[in-house]
Amino acid sequence: MADSAESAAVPIISTSTSTSIANVAASPAEDEAIPVQRKSSSPVTDPGTSPGQAAPINSAHEQSEQEDSDDDSALGAGSILSETTSLADEITQYRYEHNRRYHAYKDGEYWGPNDDKQNNQLDIAHHLYLLTLEGRLHLAPIGDNPQNVLDVGTGTGIWAIDFADQYPSAQVIGFDLSPIQPMWVAPNVRFEINDACDPDWGYKKNSFDFIHVRAMYGSVADWPAFYRQALAHLAPGGWFQQIEMSVVPTSDDGTVTEGSIFDMWGKISLEAGDKFGKDLRIHEQIKGYLDDAGFEEVVEKVYKWPIGPWDEDIHMKQIGLWNQLHWEEGIEGWSLALLTRVLGWSYTEVQAYLGKMRTGIRDRKVHAYHIINVVYGRKPIPS
Ligand SMILES: C[S@@+](CC[C@H](N)C(=O)[O-])C[C@H]1O[C@@H](n2cnc3c(N)ncnc32)[C@H](O)[C@@H]1O
Repeated sequence: MADSAESAAVPIISTSTSTSIANVAASPAEDEAIPVQRKSSSPVTDPGTSPGQAAPINSAHEQSEQEDSDDDSALGAGSILSETTSLADEITQYRYEHNRRYHAYKDGEYWGPNDDKQNNQLDIAHHLYLLTLEGRLHLAPIGDNPQNVLDVGTGTGIWAIDFADQYPSAQVIGFDLSPIQPMWVAPNVRFEINDACDPDWGYKKNSFDFIHVRAMYGSVADWPAFYRQALAHLAPGGWFQQIEMSVVPTSDDGTVTEGSIFDMWGKISLEAGDKFGKDLRIHEQIKGYLDDAGFEEVVEKVYKWPIGPWDEDIHMKQIGLWNQLHWEEGIEGWSLALLTRVLGWSYTEVQAYLGKMRTGIRDRKVHAYHIINVVYGRKPIPS
């Protein structure tokens, strides 16, 4: 599978703007000054180092600090500080819009807020995925001893943290545009700022045993390039898994009618994603993309998430109840930036629309659900 400890050290940070999130204050209160730098006490390990073999946090600015002091005496502590400051600013000078907070790094690239309300929605969704997969963090048959694991678009890092806890053998890296992960985590998980749409994610090629992607709908313009990156970074025989949801509510009994608020939600969301240039249909395209990219043993499983506890089945009722909470917590953040920035709606128009959505979500007579696709596949081992 992945390279052993003897392999060359992995350039954790390959781009000048990437940084270890552990060094940057996460989620400062909105009225607080942003602390420039905070050190994590957690040792971290690179893919390519052996499990348990701790390496110092290898952030872009720490590398620069060494380079500065070793190679260029003209650049003193002041320039190191200003470099660190601007790096922290680039990541934490958040955009505030309509009372919601958005990522700063690559401002505007992603439409979802990164504030407490949206992060709460992400953690509710994590519970829904666990309910759906009967407590499993993945379906890909990765074995009991994964080593190097990457979580792309890690969000609050909740999956990466749980995975690292379940697999002590693994060194897990989660990356995201937003530094919204906890600072104090187990030594075998580390978070970084990085952009999944960069032409090169910058990690060591052929190094990961498992790459995990979840809920990156509307986040990537060029999915074929994304899957090429995933394939290049996987070790031969390594597994890739992606879980995505449809944003189009439907029903089997005709209770989601043409022109209803759920019907409008699906159509408006797809239109907004298309206009944004990062469409929201990835859930139904993953398998085809994986096949085209050259993955093998590709498996797809499809699940339903009822919206509300209308299903008679006790398991589905439970999922529906959690999903109702998920939608109520999520809908403003899912739509506000896309509808105002991209479709040109006013804030008031969005709020009126969301009011109708909330009524729809609570209507027990409407048996709406949406689809969740789980797809996994393996990088071929050269014969
Ligand atoms: C819906 S959230 C899902 C978070 C996490 N995967 C989970 O399932 O809990 C999407 C995440 O992708 C991140 N994201 C969006 N575009 C990205 C990009 N180009 N590079 C890295 N992360 C990105 C967002 O910041 C957000 O945290």
